[in-house]
Amino acid sequence: MAERITIAGVMTGTSCDGVDIAAIEFDPESWTPKWEASLPYPKKLRERVFKLQAPGAKTSVEEIFSLHTEIGDWFGDVLLDLIEGLSADERPAAIAMHGQTIAHHPTKRPHGFTVQLGDPTRVAEKTGRTVISNFRQGDLAANGEGAPLVPLYHYLLSSILPGGHDGIAIHNLGGISNFTYIDPKGGIIACDTGPANVWIDAAMEKNTKGKKHFDAGGAVALEGKINLPVLKALLKHPYLKLPAPKSTGRDDFPPEYFLSRAKAVKGNDLVATATAYTVETIAQAYERFILKDRQPLSAIYLCGGGAKNEAIRFWLSDRLDGIEVRTIEDHGFESQYIEAQAFSFLGYRSLLGLPVGGKWTGVEEFAPPGMITPGKNWMQVLKSLP
Ligand SMILES: Nc1ncnc2c1ncn2[C@@H]1O[C@H](COP(=O)(O)OP(=O)(O)O)[C@@H](O)[C@H]1O
Ligand SMILES: [Mg+2]
Repeated sequence: MAERITIAGVMTGTSCDGVDIAAIEFDPESWTPKWEASLPYPKKLRERVFKLQAPGAKTSVEEIFSLHTEIGDWFGDVLLDLIEGLSADERPAAIAMHGQTIAHHPTKRPHGFTVQLGDPTRVAEKTGRTVISNFRQGDLAANGEGAPLVPLYHYLLSSILPGGHDGIAIHNLGGISNFTYIDPKGGIIACDTGPANVWIDAAMEKNTKGKKHFDAGGAVALEGKINLPVLKALLKHPYLKLPAPKSTGRDDFPPEYFLSRAKAVKGNDLVATATAYTVETIAQAYERFILKDRQPLSAIYLCGGGAKNEAIRFWLSDRLDGIEVRTIEDHGFESQYIEAQAFSFLGYRSLLGLPVGGKWTGVEEFAPPGMITPGKNWMQVLKSLP
């Protein structure tokens, strides 16, 4: 069939733990996940990305744009390598790359901005493929938040998850935490709730002097004791009180913010307190945006790297009594690749000229989707679209 295209979604989130790549084949009637891959973040690049987001960071145009080029080259090399190892049938015709966020300030209206690094022309040139990038800018231009953008893919997933028509949420635990609630009629409520792993990772790095980047399985948190006064003080963060639509990023919740306010908390307790903050801010968001209005919520499906953190899962389940907290892994999906798959889907929508946000980003009508950088195969891409 001619109208069929494989798109590789490429995601590098706020955690900077690595690049997740997931390919889906689309035709007008169906979508089929094809393959996934993950590669670690080069240490030097990761450090430079974090440095740009530290509070009061001083930087230069040269640093920002050389990083833009280097991340683009890194993506291009990684993808070329991967593509060369694939069979002709598995090779993607297009690459939908999110890019590395270094700033997300949508609400500085009328001139809000969001910045994702990684030059798409580098990727198009190296791979010969067509690249879709800069997914958030068009949404911002139409006065949207530009985030979260995964809800349309979560909506697609909900149709194949148990209870998907009874009111469920799909909850992504990356560096930042965001949920998509799909009501029984198919309506969507979604927003970022605050940090998922940024502070947990920072606590782990502090405790281990940088040797460990995350709390595997949540084991450290489960050993620690939550410092309630510190938790309570941190819950005064202004983002938590904002109405939806809303979105946030590492620069609203920098590790330094947490570590300086939790100075008195040590060892496992620091990790436990960061984890409790993630859980409490998530629970409050559900209470405020879903449960208060008596919307049915039968289950929350966790995805993203934090779905592997049992402390988050157990504590959230305790906190939201009566609501099933599951992971999407139990239903045949790898939690780590949901976001990369989402961007593959948003890449497809962009090629069709369809918006990638919606009511939940604050955009009711059309907003320009991802930007297209034609590759050498552009005519072939056009022929594979309906
Ligand atoms: N086995 C695990 N146990 C607990 N947490 C994990 C595990 N694997 C990954 N994570 C967490 O997930 C984060 C990465 O999640 P990811 O979905 O890739 O986020 P992002 O989109 O921000 O890159 C890591 O920084 C870590 O905190
Ligand atoms: Mg990641």
